Amino acid sequence: MNKKVYIETYGCQMNVADSKSVLSILQLEDFASVTDVEEADIIIINTCSVRDNAEQKIWHRLDFLKGLKRRQKNIKVGIIGCMAQVNSDNLLKHVAVDFVAGPDAYRSLPELISKTYNNTKTSNVDFNINETYCGIEQYKNNTNEISGFIPITRGCNNFCSYCIVPYTRGRERSSSYKDIIKSVLDFKNNNYKEITLLGQNVNSYYFEDKNKKVDFPELIKMVAEKAPELRIRFTTSHPKDISDRLIETIAQYDNICNHIHLPVQSGSNKILKLMNRKYTREWYLDRVNKIKSTIPNCGLSSDIFCGFSDESETDFEQTMDLIRTVKYDSAFMFKYSVRPGTFAANKLIDNVPEKIKIKRLNNMIKVQNQISLENNKKDIGKSFEVLIEGKSKRSDKEYFGRTQQNKVVVFPSKGLKINQLAIVNIKEVSSATLKGE
Ligand code: 5AD
Ligand code: SF4
Repeated sequence: MNKKVYIETYGCQMNVADSKSVLSILQLEDFASVTDVEEADIIIINTCSVRDNAEQKIWHRLDFLKGLKRRQKNIKVGIIGCMAQVNSDNLLKHVAVDFVAGPDAYRSLPELISKTYNNTKTSNVDFNINETYCGIEQYKNNTNEISGFIPITRGCNNFCSYCIVPYTRGRERSSSYKDIIKSVLDFKNNNYKEITLLGQNVNSYYFEDKNKKVDFPELIKMVAEKAPELRIRFTTSHPKDISDRLIETIAQYDNICNHIHLPVQSGSNKILKLMNRKYTREWYLDRVNKIKSTIPNCGLSSDIFCGFSDESETDFEQTMDLIRTVKYDSAFMFKYSVRPGTFAANKLIDNVPEKIKIKRLNNMIKVQNQISLENNKKDIGKSFEVLIEGKSKRSDKEYFGRTQQNKVVVFPSKGLKINQLAIVNIKEVSSATLKGE
């Protein structure tokens, strides 16, 4: 009988895409996918290491799985993803864990799993700079999914001093533009309505063959032209690589969504330098001005964190000032957590007290929520193109979807169908959601 696999995914959209590639790799070897953990023969946890609390969640989950394995002795448990890469030894020591595979080693999963049936714990955390999972289609499970992810670059070469990603995902590489177009058409032919091009630093995409040199503006143009009926999104952009050409290309194509996620991390030049972000506050604000003047109604969001080494009250005030100046539609906000192995962990001192980190974080969240609300209020009375994604959580009679700007909209479902594009007129708003008709 086919072994049944259950995958649980933590962290970023890249992990969501990877989990689907893993399912495809296993499906080719006659494994079957299940969505209920109780039915599984093999449980795979796709992990995140970006902050300490992400890792703590996984350790707690493993304690639960230890209990489950006591009751159901034949279950095998595997850990994949970023935490698998940097923590493989400790993970393999955990009684619940049978196998471990890093982000470049997923093609070896069928072999690793078969070894666990001889009661040997196994792992593969080899980096492979050539691995782009080319030729592996993402597993599609006949549900009503309409939005797909396409990794176009993997890894990161930027070495921001706080970040563990260059150590978990290795060096940056770009997939061939031909493979990317193939994936785009595959999603289109499977009735998907939206795709998101993914990379840790998506806008540093570059691929060259004997016919062409393709950078990110060129790639996104090719994708937009090949699939005019698909909405196209991309994430995450690094401010240092957001060129005028890219901004102009986004403005030029109706099907490239008017939304840019542009993590600033800090508003202080001193801190940006310590973070090794390779841009200044002035450069960042100039890019924001270029975006706002070139793409009317562009949604803008960010990642920002407080409490990095040596962040003074003045540095933090500069972050707050930048938040107020840019007026993001939304932002993911965090407090700094030291990641072992990074430059900051080895060479800088984590010297902002936890209490101050929490106070600053709450302050940022409060101000950003007010700004989100003010921005949303400006949408009242306007109409937006919304891709209907499903039923709203609160009511059976309402659908939800997102605007091009990536804002969530809730509206009465009468006369409409999931997967359709609808024009919704906004009537009321909160800081997180628009409501309309
Ligand atoms: N501590 C806190 N936040 C971090 N991020 C990345 N590394 C850390 C860290 N060590 C945040 C950044 C990044 C987002 C994915 O997570 O804001 O953009
Ligand atoms: Fe981490 Fe910086 Fe790379 Fe983003 S660009 S993944 S923050 S090292």
